[in-house]
Amino acid sequence: MPMGTSQRYRALTRDLMWDPKTVNTKKIYPLVEAEGIRLKDPSKWEDPFRMTFNQYVKIQSEKDQLHHAVRTAFEANYGHTRVIDGRWFEGVKAFAVAVQPAEYAAHRLMAYIGRNIPIEAIRFATFNQAIDELRHAQIEIKHYADMSKYYDGLHAYAQTNENLWFNTVPKSFFDDALTAGPFESLIAISFSFEYVFTNILFLPFASSAAAVGDEHFVSVGKSVQSDESRHMALGMSALRMLLEEDDRNVPLIQSWIDKWYWRAYRIFSVISTLVDYYPRVRPISWKKAFEIYVEEQVINGLFKDLARYGIRPPRNFEDSVKEKEHYSHATMRILEHYKHANYFRGFRLQPDDYEWLSNEYPSTFDRYYAPFFRRMDDHVMAVASPGLPAVCAVCQIPVEFPDPDHPERPWTQYAEHNGKTHMFCSPGCKQIFVEEPHKYVQWWWPAESYLNGEFGNSLEDMFKYFGFAPEEANEYYSSRDYHRWLKYRQQLGLDKQYGSIVTD
Ligand SMILES: [Fe+2]
Ligand SMILES: [Fe+2]
Ligand SMILES: [Zn+2]
Repeated sequence: MPMGTSQRYRALTRDLMWDPKTVNTKKIYPLVEAEGIRLKDPSKWEDPFRMTFNQYVKIQSEKDQLHHAVRTAFEANYGHTRVIDGRWFEGVKAFAVAVQPAEYAAHRLMAYIGRNIPIEAIRFATFNQAIDELRHAQIEIKHYADMSKYYDGLHAYAQTNENLWFNTVPKSFFDDALTAGPFESLIAISFSFEYVFTNILFLPFASSAAAVGDEHFVSVGKSVQSDESRHMALGMSALRMLLEEDDRNVPLIQSWIDKWYWRAYRIFSVISTLVDYYPRVRPISWKKAFEIYVEEQVINGLFKDLARYGIRPPRNFEDSVKEKEHYSHATMRILEHYKHANYFRGFRLQPDDYEWLSNEYPSTFDRYYAPFFRRMDDHVMAVASPGLPAVCAVCQIPVEFPDPDHPERPWTQYAEHNGKTHMFCSPGCKQIFVEEPHKYVQWWWPAESYLNGEFGNSLEDMFKYFGFAPEEANEYYSSRDYHRWLKYRQQLGLDKQYGSIVTD
């Protein structure tokens, strides 16, 4: 008699491990008990998608074929010339800094989790996800490869990815997760990063890409997001499994949720500028996206449900709600401060930008931020701060966020450890440090390394170390990339611009 679907699924995915006879199991899996997680019978837990490997391969190859058809057409038709305002590509470069290294690191992390947790369902889900994340890294790099034929910044991607100071933001996040135990990593990435935040990453960003006409990136976003639903399901089932297996897991899980919510939220600061600033037309604001994807879906939806396990919303959740009125503006202000040292440029805001920002953020933009951006009207580099910034010892973002309760004051926090003062961008990052200072004391501070001569002796050496030239930085509308974009358009007879552009 032929097997039914669920029988077939079992036969292909269960009882594939053996019990070691010649070595102690604890030697093979030294980390399973190291974190204090207690498991009774995790084998009853199922991979939420009940997929077999041949189904996975079939779905993914269809997806890839579709994506590469869109990509080839975009490249052949010089799609980059057809976007509404080429400054969008500066945002794509920022994405290349913030997100792509995270994709690749997530692939390593998933392999680490699967290796160290001997539960078949988790192994299969993390195995698939490891391949997914590698695919995400690759299709994103393909987009940069095409852009790099026409524009600055991405020509030494491997080197920039390794050395650029701003890359310490995603790196510190994933290094932190990779040095945690496997269950904490699972909660860090699958739950806190993927379940709570990837909707706000790929949905608004893909719709911004669609609004400005970057069909290639729309396709990247859709292709990635279709895997994310599986990753989010893993996060959700892992969380429920750990909570249901033993009550004593609850406080540990809560402490991981508290930590990783703030870690993940902070890494998304750059994304807020990709929603509110870089696209010349925006389908949604960061504030609204945060309300829908985080406040409504996660906090009011999911966390209500988790209350029965004794789980409450993440510790610093209220801080992120207060910050939604400020987040993208304060982050863009940071990017403008250091645009001479990043390969993604800042830009002078246009009249329609001021109008949109002030409509979407009536209580904060005009009052606290517009005057800062207006300073660029006289001179586009007026707001740049010379040198490299002081950064937060936990999230590695420059410590320049305002206190949302008193926006004229900085939110910067300090803590002493072993006779040294450490600096943090926010109470959330300070709490994380205070709980585990040993994880952050050896942090790499680019400004310090620069002074120690790690980048060479001159500014020129520093740019060489970063992998790009000074003229690939600064302000967009006064850059050679803007003039290139205009020229490409002229050659294709695409003269009409979105509105008019005010430049120096
Ligand atoms: Fe991914
Ligand atoms: Fe993912
Ligand atoms: Zn921080």
